[in-house]
Amino acid sequence: MKYELTPDLVTGNKLIDSEHKQLLSTINELMDACGQGKGREKSVEVFRYLLSYVNKHFADEEKLQKQTNYPEYPAHKQFHDTYKKTLENMSQSFLTEGPTVKNLSTLNQQVGVLVSHIRMTDKKLAKYLHDHA
Ligand SMILES: [Fe+2]
Repeated sequence: MKYELTPDLVTGNKLIDSEHKQLLSTINELMDACGQGKGREKSVEVFRYLLSYVNKHFADEEKLQKQTNYPEYPAHKQFHDTYKKTLENMSQSFLTEGPTVKNLSTLNQQVGVLVSHIRMTDKKLAKYLHDHA
């Protein structure tokens, strides 16, 4: 299954949407690397890229929130921080164990968490940014 930016995930903010698109495409690349038996090395490499891209994306969203005094910034930031920690732990497992069934299932589960965050929290943020531009 490929992840894509379906209409229900489009926030309406150009920067956020383009970064979400890139995120999902990196996740697809990671799934491919894991599934095609490209081995641990390629998977770990894509995972590292994903981690850095998530950091960049979250930082960009947080910047937009601070610039506009977004009232829900603390909760949103806390989600980002927790999520980054989770990904870092996952990257440790990927590094030592590679794309095992267990690691892939955790990954899929965490992608689900991210997709819900986009659908609920980021859409709400984009609406605020639109109204306070
Ligand atoms: Fe977010």
